[in-house]
Amino acid sequence: MSTTATTAAARGYRRSQKVLHWLTVVALAAQFAVGYALDLDGDCDPPGEDRSGGDTSDAAEERMERLEEACEARADGYDLVGGGFDLAELHLLLGLAVLALGVVRPVWRRVAGLPPWSEHLSPADRRLVHWTERALLLLLVVVPLSGLLLVGTGDDAWLPLHVGAHVAFFVALAAHLFTNLRPAILRRMV
Ligand code: HEM
Ligand code: HEM
Repeated sequence: MSTTATTAAARGYRRSQKVLHWLTVVALAAQFAVGYALDLDGDCDPPGEDRSGGDTSDAAEERMERLEEACEARADGYDLVGGGFDLAELHLLLGLAVLALGVVRPVWRRVAGLPPWSEHLSPADRRLVHWTERALLLLLVVVPLSGLLLVGTGDDAWLPLHVGAHVAFFVALAAHLFTNLRPAILRRMV
């Protein structure tokens, strides 16, 4: 490799690509945290309701019912305009942000181009990098779309697709970290 190519390879990605990369990482980390905090059963029973036994006062029971009704009303739809802002709506908004990044990134990758390969990556590493980056870029679109499908159809039968897509994402991410979590490679993206 010539000296100019070596310098360009060590310098790595453009600032715009680095910003998009780390913005995606932050949005996804937040999205997974919110996703796992969502109530998968749609269980709106307030905590403690089952423990209250027969001693519950009318006031306490009324409060439990109000909490339950409020929860069911929220679970009812992703109403961004009316009512309060809850985790489900945050999940939708973050998902749309990830989807937007998933569309912009491959386009920008084509326009801005890629730096030359790092000399620290063997031919086998390069093949793995190539395919894991493609998988990650594809999943950046598939994961939010599967979520939108789940909510759009209102049919829980789509939940395995949404969960399966993010499990596939974890597999691709593990391979991505396997090749990239080394100082000489990491430097190209910071
Ligand atoms: C990058 C995008 C997304 C990621 C990483 C993501 C991740 C997750 C995770 C981790 C869960 C929990 C599943 C489990 O516990 O195994 C989940 C559930 C769910 N997600 Fe997403 N999600 C994304 C986008 C979306 C979008 C755009 C929607 C549409 C509104 C959506 C709707 C849902 C729904 C309805 C559930 C089930 C929640 C429940 O039944 O209470 N997701 N998601
Ligand atoms: C969380 C989701 C992640 C996604 C979707 C993702 C995606 C990508 C993609 C598509 C590229 C190719 C460059 C581009 O097209 O912009 C890339 C490069 C890179 N990523 Fe990630 N990445 C993620 C997380 C991480 C994490 C957590 C690290 C390290 C802690 C990391 C380190 C790197 C490095 C160092 C490169 C440059 C590799 C090279 O030298 O070619 N990525 N990433």
